Amino acid sequence: MFTLDGKTAIITGASSGIGHAMAELFAKQGAQLVLNARRADLLDDMVANIRDAGGMAVSVPGNITDEAISKQLVEATLDHFGKLDIAVNNAGMVGGIGFDP
Ligand SMILES: NC(=O)c1ccc[n+]([C@@H]2O[C@H](COP(=O)([O-])OP(=O)(O)OC[C@H]3O[C@@H](n4cnc5c(N)ncnc54)[C@H](OP(=O)(O)O)[C@@H]3O)[C@@H](O)[C@H]2O)c1
Repeated sequence: MFTLDGKTAIITGASSGIGHAMAELFAKQGAQLVLNARRADLLDDMVANIRDAGGMAVSVPGNITDEAISKQLVEATLDHFGKLDIAVNNAGMVGGIGFDP
């Protein structure tokens, strides 16, 4: 059976779409999650839902094109969970990350 028990994963772009769906699946399969996107309120709701279901998750909101945010993501992962197993570099949009026509 597919399991992520004991694995720690960063998922960027976790507030909606594919990243949101992956976060729900990873949490269900036992992963410890560090979630990123710009909409902090949506991430907070996800973290609360995952914890209510018995999982473990924290959020690091912010624009992933900001190098300081990417460093915070890794630091928060190591601080909370002591290791990083999986990095899902999903944040983006059609036309490119942060694209503003
Ligand atoms: N859906 C498709 O058919 C398709 C096809 C090919 C490739 N992709 C790629 O797959 C990825 C996910 O697509 P999706 O359809 O799930 O898109 P989506 O529903 O628009 O979700 C994009 C996610 O990325 C986050 N995001 C965007 N820019 C960001 C930034 N600068 N910093 C941090 N987070 C950012 C958004 O959250 P916030 O707005 O809260 O920041 C959101 O959670 C994208 O990279 C997309 O290019 C999708």
